[in-house]
Amino acid sequence: MSESVTMDKIVSLCKRRGFIFQSSEIYGGLGSCWDYGPVGVELKRNVKNAWWRSMVESRGDSVGLDCSIMMHPTVWRASGHVEGFSDPLVECKVCHMRWRADQLDKPACPSCGGELTEPRNFNLMFKTFMGPVEEDAAVVYLRPETAQGIFVNFENVVTTTRKRLPLGIAQIGKSFRNEITPGNFTFRTREFEQMEMEFFVKPGTDEEWYRYWAGERFKWYLDLGIRAENLRMREHEKSELAHYAKACADVEYLFPIGWSELEGIANRADFDLTQHAKWSGKDLSYFDSQTNERFIPYVIEPSAGADRSVLAFLVDAYREEDVEGTTRVVLKLHPSLAPVKVAILPLSRNEKLTPLAKEIHERLSRNFVTEYDDTQSIGRRYRRQDEIGTPLCVTVDFESLEDNQVTIRDRDSLAQIRLPVARLEEALKAKLAGESFDAGSLWAGARA
Ligand code: GAP
Repeated sequence: MSESVTMDKIVSLCKRRGFIFQSSEIYGGLGSCWDYGPVGVELKRNVKNAWWRSMVESRGDSVGLDCSIMMHPTVWRASGHVEGFSDPLVECKVCHMRWRADQLDKPACPSCGGELTEPRNFNLMFKTFMGPVEEDAAVVYLRPETAQGIFVNFENVVTTTRKRLPLGIAQIGKSFRNEITPGNFTFRTREFEQMEMEFFVKPGTDEEWYRYWAGERFKWYLDLGIRAENLRMREHEKSELAHYAKACADVEYLFPIGWSELEGIANRADFDLTQHAKWSGKDLSYFDSQTNERFIPYVIEPSAGADRSVLAFLVDAYREEDVEGTTRVVLKLHPSLAPVKVAILPLSRNEKLTPLAKEIHERLSRNFVTEYDDTQSIGRRYRRQDEIGTPLCVTVDFESLEDNQVTIRDRDSLAQIRLPVARLEEALKAKLAGESFDAGSLWAGARA
């Protein structure tokens, strides 16, 4: 993490440029709920698409699923959430602030020093009622993880896809937890999105697959530009393991709040399918026709947070650079994550420049996510594009009308090259694919 990054700077940039807004802001906001603005929604979609591409589309051994948020209440009895998905809650007898007992250093209220109550277990699942009658029989929960929708559909997926083990089933979707102490912007919220894969394997091969997934998931963040020094893997102690886990490792990121969990990779063994078989009365075993064996598959689960990943990508990309005596704020996002890939900026809003600039924009927008901007000075427009992480800007000036050439400006190096409009697409594609700005014949000698 760059030393100059603080959570306040990230929150401020997100609000200023339209990444993330406080939910219901005009009413004073709703605690721990956030809305993604026009560029934030693009960034988040790009993160989710990169995950889906790597976990589903580019693999032959996994498929996707999209389950309902509300599920049969017995699901949460079988999974252990009704019984055990709770945190120890204490309340200050003086100011009535509530705290997680396991996160306190002292037996006094951190806010006012008052005496605290004895801890009681507080279940983190949100409860509501299905249908018009608010009675116990109608209680349903908002899912606290997407994983259970995958387990209860295991048989449906195997039967309909006729796929064999090892088999991954992936899902991206909202989860809800009534966290006692949410906070740190989108790091811990009560409504968030998860990107989860349950990877079903033959017992005995689980440890190998567990190591495989820990390695793959770590690499995914590096491939998308997270700096290696800000990422680490932490294996859980036996005493830390969740009730379902045989082993667990966290991918941790160095957030401004310190090293914190980004994603967990767990070996859930046969816990979930065994539990659902028991509670539903259905046989959830798998028959391996090649070896004539029947068994309950083991599960390796890489479970990531979409919002937390977005936050990590924002923090990691954030730089403050000194450029000719002024500070430039720039998001050096990986091109595949950047909300806008190419900005088309006529030098000014001049009636002579507009037709050519609009024509270029129209052409480029067929192949790239683009933005056309002719408001304010060119300097301010570059600043905005830097702050939303746009890798390339195309500038159309008065000379362009004469020589049919335009200038491309590189976000990271600030290098500018001038080239014929006819070669623009080719050049932009090469650059977005990672080619260095002035490498190769395309760029040779073209630097302005
Ligand atoms: N199915 C396993 C599971 O849900 P988890 O460690 O509780 O495991 C997985 O959650 C990931 O979901 C976390 O690593 C984190 O990225 C994200 N996550 C969990 N609780 C969150 C919260 N309150 N706010 C934002 N993200 C959260």
